[in-house]
Amino acid sequence: MKKIVVLGSINVDIILNIARLPLPGETMAMSDRSTAGGGKGANQAIAAVRAGADTSFIAKIGQDRSADFMLDTFKYDGLNIDHVTKDDKAGTGQAYILLDEKGQNSILIYGGANQTITTKNIQNASETIAEADCLITEFETPLEATIEAFKIAKENNVLTILNPAPAKTNIPEELLQLSDIIVPNETEAEAITGIKVTDEASMVAAANKLHTMGVKNVIITVGANGSFYSLGEKSGFVNAFKVNTVDTTAAGDTFIGYLASALDADLSNIEEAMKFASKASSITVQTQGAQNSIPYVKNVNI
Ligand code: RIB
Repeated sequence: MKKIVVLGSINVDIILNIARLPLPGETMAMSDRSTAGGGKGANQAIAAVRAGADTSFIAKIGQDRSADFMLDTFKYDGLNIDHVTKDDKAGTGQAYILLDEKGQNSILIYGGANQTITTKNIQNASETIAEADCLITEFETPLEATIEAFKIAKENNVLTILNPAPAKTNIPEELLQLSDIIVPNETEAEAITGIKVTDEASMVAAANKLHTMGVKNVIITVGANGSFYSLGEKSGFVNAFKVNTVDTTAAGDTFIGYLASALDADLSNIEEAMKFASKASSITVQTQGAQNSIPYVKNVNI
């Protein structure tokens, strides 16, 4: 069984259903509202554990009812939460998700406890990282913690997967060089490379730029169109499964958790792993909400 460690965020998602995004200064009625477990890190960890991997999570929460709600989900799914600790001042992270009738979302984040993760928290989890096959992280937690985790991973020959989300410019070169695989979507790829990703030629150009910036392997996800990979000497495109999309929240997180659970250390099965990940995320988008919509492996049939 694959051993995966995820360093990342925990948010309680407050989903606000609206017909369309409001204009500046406009007051609008919502058609509904609901709450679900979320946070990119937590979603990726839940996806990995539901894919069947032995998954440990490094994260921070507050001392509030949201924390209890999130911990209950993690325990139910069998996630190792030995390194999910409580901050005594900041609240558990929250995300306000504006979800329109077409299934597109805009998200506002209160980072809270996610922003209190320190390099010391990472060092406390160093044995767990060292024993893993793969470490995944994203950008909803502090950069210094990410770099520290990736350094420990690389010292111990652990595969590192960076999901550069939410989009960020000026990513430190050190982090890119510590990343075995970077998995941006088209917006994130453009933020890092300055290249607008619109077709296969621009995907190749963005991937090549990422290679020159020090990243060995690149996967660019392009939503309902599929995903492109470039391992330097080998590249290819994997089509997405066509489904009826209700909510794209956590689609990318599902892709990453499932990808990591299936990918061999030498990346020789990359197309197969991407197809499996793509199938899982095609299930996620068919239900509203993040963690509640991430499938269990028994329901991911290719
Ligand atoms: O990737 C989706 C996630 O982004 C949501 O669950 C929300 O919490 C934000 O972090």
